[in-house]
Amino acid sequence: MKAVTWQGKRSVSVDTVPDPVLEQDNDVIIEVTSTAICGSDLHLYEVLGPFMDPGDIIGHEPMGRVVEAGPTSGLSVGDRVVVPFTIACGSCWMCDRRLYSQCETTQVTEQGNGARLFGYSRLYGSVPGGQAQYLRVPHANFGPVKVGEELPDHRYLFLSDVLPTAWQGVRYAGVGPGDTLAVFGLGPIGQMAARIGVHLGARVFGIDPVAERRDMAARHGVEVLDFTAETNAEIRDATGGRGPDAVVDAVGMEAHGSPVGKAAHTAVGFLPDALARPLMEHAGLDRLAALHSSIDLVRRGGTVSLSGVYGGEASPMPLLTMFDKQIQLRMGQANVRAWIDDLLPLVEDPADPLGVDDLVTHRLPLDDAPGAYEMFQDKTDGCIKVVLDPQA
Ligand SMILES: NC(=O)c1ccc[n+]([C@@H]2O[C@H](COP(=O)([O-])OP(=O)(O)OC[C@H]3O[C@@H](n4cnc5c(N)ncnc54)[C@H](O)[C@@H]3O)[C@@H](O)[C@H]2O)c1
Ligand SMILES: [Zn+2]
Ligand SMILES: [Zn+2]
Repeated sequence: MKAVTWQGKRSVSVDTVPDPVLEQDNDVIIEVTSTAICGSDLHLYEVLGPFMDPGDIIGHEPMGRVVEAGPTSGLSVGDRVVVPFTIACGSCWMCDRRLYSQCETTQVTEQGNGARLFGYSRLYGSVPGGQAQYLRVPHANFGPVKVGEELPDHRYLFLSDVLPTAWQGVRYAGVGPGDTLAVFGLGPIGQMAARIGVHLGARVFGIDPVAERRDMAARHGVEVLDFTAETNAEIRDATGGRGPDAVVDAVGMEAHGSPVGKAAHTAVGFLPDALARPLMEHAGLDRLAALHSSIDLVRRGGTVSLSGVYGGEASPMPLLTMFDKQIQLRMGQANVRAWIDDLLPLVEDPADPLGVDDLVTHRLPLDDAPGAYEMFQDKTDGCIKVVLDPQA
């Protein structure tokens, strides 16, 4: 089959690799019909190289049709499914508490990390990913979400990651009717977090340096702002001088506006792995512009909810401010399955309340992945969300 493989910093290729096979009784193999590129893939592309091996199959936002089903998978050949990016057993201590991204059956204990993820480096178990023609899905008795036949792929596809991640981010932010929410970053995650905020009745401010991302959010009832030195003051002025009740950081560790971090990232990205790995893990190479802005902006006693992914261990944090402002901080990989019952009716609603029809800017053949990664990272050609079609 054909698959997108990681080759090095800012380098992916489409290669012919062996087809996956059933390994456990609860596995299925799916033929992938749509598979998206995520901001998290850009971390692999840019800074997580020390944890990747050339040839690793990447991708964690797939959907498709079951073509082989293990006897205890609970699925049948022909079922149409979306595959959550977090791999969970559904029945361990953590899963019982709906903390699926901490599943104790799939935890990557050798790395000290949580549940296995598709296509996400040695840190998360080196599981072959979903930007491929076929995908082996472990723990398929719990993970895959069976969906209907009527609606097009893009209506369901974002149940794999974007929607549950954004939903969790806003739920952890704790906002409801009459509250105010700011969302840093209007990539796919921020788009959906902002729209979910609006859907739940909050007044939502969305911040992003890229004009077409602001325009997209504005189409969905979000009050948009550029990321400048005045942004936080403007939002404070609009919120009685206090700041919003909660802030979602949907940017993560590659924020624009953190020059020192950028130099360090670039250096680490080009170091030999053995040197870069400990630096990445322990020297704290995050670019924290969005996180620091979130802490500055949130009102006293408010909540900062991190959807954006951070790595590194020694990033300086403004602890005095965090403590003094009595900030609550929540974060983590999405517990995807925990939010599906809330989200499925919304994506199937003909009125499309979250505007899922207005997110994908590019649908391209799998073969175009190298150019698509470059375009998504550089934000050229109005690119906001790319879906690859492995059958085209
Ligand atoms: N927690 C989870 O389970 C989970 C799941 C998926 C993605 N993520 C993370 O969410 C983040 C966003 O993902 P995405 O797919 O939307 O990626 P993306 O790269 O398209 O979006 C990031 C956006 O942030 C904007 N930005 C950069 N610096 C900024 C700043 N200082 N202020 C405001 N905006 C700024 C960029 O212009 C871009 O639009 C990534 O870190 C990704 O790894 C987390
Ligand atoms: Zn993703
Ligand atoms: Zn589990």
